[in-house]
Amino acid sequence: MTELHPEMHERRILGTELLWAFGVGVLIAAVLSMIVFTALSIGVNPPSNVERIDPKTLHLSGEFAEDNLGTTVGADGRVVVRAVATQFMFVPRCIAVPAGRPVTLRFASPDVLHGLLITGTNVNTMVVPGYVAQVHTVFTRTGDLLMPCHEYCGLGHSEMWATVQVVPEDQFQPNSEGRVSCAQR
Ligand code: CUA
Repeated sequence: MTELHPEMHERRILGTELLWAFGVGVLIAAVLSMIVFTALSIGVNPPSNVERIDPKTLHLSGEFAEDNLGTTVGADGRVVVRAVATQFMFVPRCIAVPAGRPVTLRFASPDVLHGLLITGTNVNTMVVPGYVAQVHTVFTRTGDLLMPCHEYCGLGHSEMWATVQVVPEDQFQPNSEGRVSCAQR
């Protein structure tokens, strides 16, 4: 190997360093622009709701008591879904929502960390004990969507999933109490 003049050697090192710095810069710019692009174009955002709830008592009374769970249409027409993620099921197991209309989903866990996504939508959140996980979305397609737990929560994790039944707006009929449950099929 031929000996390089010290100055040449240094210049070569600088060149390599700049090349790597440029490559890393391009990667960071690509990742950042992808995050901004998906946030603006298809509404992919990290959940930002910070709302505390006592995991030890949430099933006893209040918003997440059993007879409050499921889909409710408020007097103002707001559709709110409440569900509990617990080892190893979602309560309720089936959730009815309308297509083409804003829906707010609220989840809480009385035991351990769970997570969920609804296939083919931008709904994807962790359900952390002690906090209410809230997601706003609009379902664009009708049909049955799978909502699996996607955070390992114990031996029954793989059995933990629910169905989201997206029905056309005109078939989404709340009862006298403003509740909507899944159609039996
Ligand atoms: Cu709940 Cu995995």
